[in-house]
Amino acid sequence: MEVVKEKARIREIVEEARAAGRIVGLVPTMGYFHEGHLELMRRARAECDLVVVSLFVNPTQFGPGEDLQAYPRDFDRDRGMAESVGLDYIFNPEPSEMYPQGFSTHVEVEGLSDILCGAIRPGHFRGVATVVAKLFNIVPAQRVYFGQKDAQQLAVIKRMAADLDFALEVVAVPTVREEDGLAMSSRNIYLTGRDRDDALVLARALRTAAGMIEAGERDVSEISEAMQGVFDALPSVNLEYIAICDTIYLQPLEELHGEVLIAVAARVGKARLIDNMVFEVE
Ligand code: PAF
Repeated sequence: MEVVKEKARIREIVEEARAAGRIVGLVPTMGYFHEGHLELMRRARAECDLVVVSLFVNPTQFGPGEDLQAYPRDFDRDRGMAESVGLDYIFNPEPSEMYPQGFSTHVEVEGLSDILCGAIRPGHFRGVATVVAKLFNIVPAQRVYFGQKDAQQLAVIKRMAADLDFALEVVAVPTVREEDGLAMSSRNIYLTGRDRDDALVLARALRTAAGMIEAGERDVSEISEAMQGVFDALPSVNLEYIAICDTIYLQPLEELHGEVLIAVAARVGKARLIDNMVFEVE
């Protein structure tokens, strides 16, 4: 596996592979890999001839006062993990390679970027959409892999890819969980002591919703109230939102029908956590 730092070099590698008729997969990441990342990489490895993982802690998606400096980083460990699943290249640019002096163009996915997490983290999805659009141009893969755990990010990226006519397939990979149900995230490293147990409340609330839907409940407010009750039982956790919405426009639903996203966000100690489940409701 080769580490590539320059945009021009990785583009050349991918263009040559494509010219030779090979299918190229891209897994965009900010590093500090866990099983969730490895699952994206394994899926890409199984479906593509050449796989590139990009590792770039993108400064433009962090707001003032957020954890850009503290964001966990361990390049050598990440390189070993990517190698263990047989990847071909790590694209690991410096910030100046991605955002040279004078950079002033941004991608804004209107309507999807200022709701839910976007309302709490203004500018976050503009930073995500911008860097992902750049990565799609720099690494012109046919297939790109993202985790379902970041459901809103997934919706923003799918919209952006469709609206800007990127000729690629966005593949959503199911959330990987710890044995006790906690969704894997690089930020779980911030969970120490009691916070680690408290963090389970997100998955618990989602399982409550899942149980109700399975039992035939279709009333959105009943489900939302039951989930709220799960959070109320744990006042140390600061719930930001419970959303019951469609998976494309992320608009609140009045009735459960079709593909339904139930998403939660909460602050647990120093960590801001998100989680979700998608249901196919008859
Ligand atoms: O999900 C992430 O790790 C990041 O938001 C992404 C998609 C790599 C963009 O920086």
